[in-house]
Amino acid sequence: MSKILVVDDEQTARDGLCFFLESITKDIHVAESKEQAEEKLKQHEFDLVITDLRLPKEEQGLNFTRVVTEKYPMIPVLVVTAFGSLESAVRAMKAGAEDFISKDFNQDEIILKVKRLLETRNLSLTNKQLTEQVKDLKKRVKNLLEPDEFIGESPIIKTILEDVKRIGEDNESTVLITGESGTGKELIARLIHANSPTRSTNKLMIIDICNITKSLLESQLFGHEKGAFTHAVRKHIGQLERANKGTVFLDEIGDFPYNLQNKLLRYLQEKTFTPIGSSDSIYSNVRIIAATNQNLEEMVQKKLFREDLYYRLNVIPIHLPPLRQRPEDIPLLIQYFQNKLENEKEKTLTFSESAIQKMSEYEWPGNVRQLRNFLERLYVVYPGFEVTAEDLHFEEISIKSEDNSQQMALYKLPLKDARDIVVKNFETNFLKHYLHLYNGNITKIAEKIGESRENLSRKIKRYQLKSEK
Ligand SMILES: Nc1ncnc2c1ncn2[C@@H]1O[C@H](COP(=O)(O)OP(=O)(O)OP(=O)(O)O)[C@@H](O)[C@H]1O
Ligand SMILES: [Mg+2]
Repeated sequence: MSKILVVDDEQTARDGLCFFLESITKDIHVAESKEQAEEKLKQHEFDLVITDLRLPKEEQGLNFTRVVTEKYPMIPVLVVTAFGSLESAVRAMKAGAEDFISKDFNQDEIILKVKRLLETRNLSLTNKQLTEQVKDLKKRVKNLLEPDEFIGESPIIKTILEDVKRIGEDNESTVLITGESGTGKELIARLIHANSPTRSTNKLMIIDICNITKSLLESQLFGHEKGAFTHAVRKHIGQLERANKGTVFLDEIGDFPYNLQNKLLRYLQEKTFTPIGSSDSIYSNVRIIAATNQNLEEMVQKKLFREDLYYRLNVIPIHLPPLRQRPEDIPLLIQYFQNKLENEKEKTLTFSESAIQKMSEYEWPGNVRQLRNFLERLYVVYPGFEVTAEDLHFEEISIKSEDNSQQMALYKLPLKDARDIVVKNFETNFLKHYLHLYNGNITKIAEKIGESRENLSRKIKRYQLKSEK
């Protein structure tokens, strides 16, 4: 329902207007002075303001119109002018009014104008929303289209990147990428594919083995015929066939089921395979890149992984060292993620030398992924602009699982409720930080964070924060 504010110093005029407007909305608020009206504007979000020009002097009405259009540019103002005074109507429009109406209006006239103004207001709100959505989509598309770079200038990374280039060009041999979680194995696989002159124009299929069941994996990879098993209602073309002339990335190869390993081995040897339920073998020219953070040699010894398959996969090995063994790459990575996050979050954060130093000395057990997540979190929750060493608390990220379960709990709520909780938590921390910083001085905080004193006090009260220390 539309919310309208009626401003007039004469009660009869206010009552008359409210009476006329009742057929449009019941949500009408009144104010008898400029001051009272401004107070109401702070408390509610109006869709339209209708004000008398003489409050009681014309200057006050014009002044009020200017204030509304400057402070609340999305709220249209309809000015009621003195009988037949075109001059004052012109002055009102110059002050920013969307429209005017002469004081001797009848009900039809006012209703027509109000309806039109409300429609315009709705259109501009939708327009604003759409503009924001388009902006957001553009940003996301940009991120999607921009291939991720592999950042690092440490000697070991330089060698790996040179190898990746050569391996890409070689086009055929199977690659096995090893390294701890978050070291960039998938990124390297993408780079190898992108560096291949012929394969890069074809598909790169990524199969995350640990996330699918054994039977699904077999049919995903090799495909199946209609009726091959109970739920096979139609034929399915496997990834190996779909990615013909391209690349298949088998992530977490250590989890590849033992009794399917011979089928993969056969493919690697002959480039042919048989879909489930079929008697024909299919040829497909796919380069396989596999990755794991498990110790495959040890698995071979324990008979958990076939030795012949291991050697077939390990034609070209690439080992990505953990981040702690190449700390000189950390400042470069920070800068890289800073640029990305600045664009993504539309927020600027700088890091003091001491902060960069502290991050370079940290162990990063979750490697580059952990560093990226840590920085992203700072962009979301850090209230200031410059991060110093004292602001960095790595322990917070080690309680990741708890964090995750809170996050998952939020995912189960309706978006609006989840957003309210997140906003409330964020605002509480944000205000706590400033209350502490400025010793509870509301005026100073309000000025610093660009919020009115009233709003700030209301929030402090709502979140039951202490304003005095
Ligand atoms: N050297 C790097 N430069 C830029 N970004 C990187 C680098 N290494 C990793 N990343 C980024 O870190 C994140 C994790 O990388 P990726 O998924 O490739 O790791 P992974 O080794 O496959 O991890 P897991 O074993 O957990 O699957 C990704 O967002 C990736 O883009
Ligand atoms: Mg991975």
